Amino acid sequence: MQAHLVCFESTCRAQYDVRDVLYNCPKCGGLLEAAYGPIGADAASLKKLWRERRMDNAPLEQSGVWRYRELFPFLEDTKHVVTLREGNTPLLPAPRAAAYGGLKAITFKHQGFNPTGSFKDNGMTAGAAQARLLGMKRVACVSTGNTSASMAAYASAGGLEPLIFIPNGNISYGKLAQALEYGAKTFQVDANFDQILALVRVLAERLGIYLLNSINPFRIEGQKSIVIEMMDQRDWKVPDWIVLPGGNLGNVSAFGKGLREMLALGLIDKLPRLAVIQAAGSSPFYEYMASLSASGGSAPFVAQGHPETLATAIKIGDPVSWPKAQFEIETTRGVVEKADEQEIADAKAVIGASGIGCEPASAATLAGIKKLVAAGVIDRDADVVAVLTGNVLKDPDYIYRYHTGQLTGPDGAAIRANFGNAPVVVPNDADRITALIS
Ligand code: F0G
Repeated sequence: MQAHLVCFESTCRAQYDVRDVLYNCPKCGGLLEAAYGPIGADAASLKKLWRERRMDNAPLEQSGVWRYRELFPFLEDTKHVVTLREGNTPLLPAPRAAAYGGLKAITFKHQGFNPTGSFKDNGMTAGAAQARLLGMKRVACVSTGNTSASMAAYASAGGLEPLIFIPNGNISYGKLAQALEYGAKTFQVDANFDQILALVRVLAERLGIYLLNSINPFRIEGQKSIVIEMMDQRDWKVPDWIVLPGGNLGNVSAFGKGLREMLALGLIDKLPRLAVIQAAGSSPFYEYMASLSASGGSAPFVAQGHPETLATAIKIGDPVSWPKAQFEIETTRGVVEKADEQEIADAKAVIGASGIGCEPASAATLAGIKKLVAAGVIDRDADVVAVLTGNVLKDPDYIYRYHTGQLTGPDGAAIRANFGNAPVVVPNDADRITALIS
């Protein structure tokens, strides 16, 4: 196995040992990525091997991540792997959501079916394996909630001590509850996500704690499995578009890398286009890409000091992975869109009424699709897969408020319950209830 870390900056490309504890390039400060020598297997035999593993009861083969480990061979052996049988998430058709978005059909890849209810599990199983291989005792992350829930579970399952840092009062109770229940030492810091990331980096360095934010290149390796599994489930037929929400931009970086690597190996015959949707109040990447195209290709990346959105999972003003995300969007002829609070809330209710459900950030996908179809960017009959990143139960407070007309945006403006479904309070009286039903 030849694995190493490489600086992502095209002007640097410095290489490091895969066991060095690094999150940025020591030479230029750039992001790092894992790179590998030749895999030594052809596309047809890999596809056959991965299908056969589905029939195998070994824990590693039952994982929808490790089943595809030939595409991220950074471990010398698999004894350090902690698996909760992550991945294996379904592709779900949703005619009602398609009609709402203006499409003939849509498929959701629902990452909320993961063990801790979000796509973070795909990457966390890989990051936790690397932490154990390195002999780390403690792991840490800053999180808007899902990374921390996932890290807490994988660390505790793998005998590591999880330390979690979250913005005080700014994550949903469902996610905070998971961190506590999975046994993480949890710090609620009076600062926003971006400020806490800087803090955690200082603490990780000072205390020798392993950082498991998505800046960790091994988490990105695990998250590639989302698109690998997606293609496997589609019998390797590439969709026209893959749509996903964007916060810290780790996921789009992982998708792009995974897709490029699959193309290079002949597992797929073309690249789909990637569409990243941000919340309008927290959209530094959208603004950056818009200013790039307005200026003909040269504009600085400007962080947002006070990102705001009720989709707290993607409330991030200074996403670390933007250079990777930019590269993947450009390579796939992708687009970046934004959706406001009302658009996200309504799209979420429509996904719910399709019998599927998701957390607010995930619904940015359908809200963005509706706008991109209306603008003629996505064709009405395009083959579209939207990735729902988190489970419906992650943020029940948001749901109750929306359906009862009590949801207000970060600016205090009322959000209309356009698809509201409020509970009805009734007396204990069969005749009165019969009258209400019929
Ligand atoms: N959707 C959900 C449900 C998320 O939790 C996140 C990120 C995203 C989308 C955005 O993904 O950061 O890779 O662009 N949540 C992180 C966390 C930041 O701490 O849980 P991204």
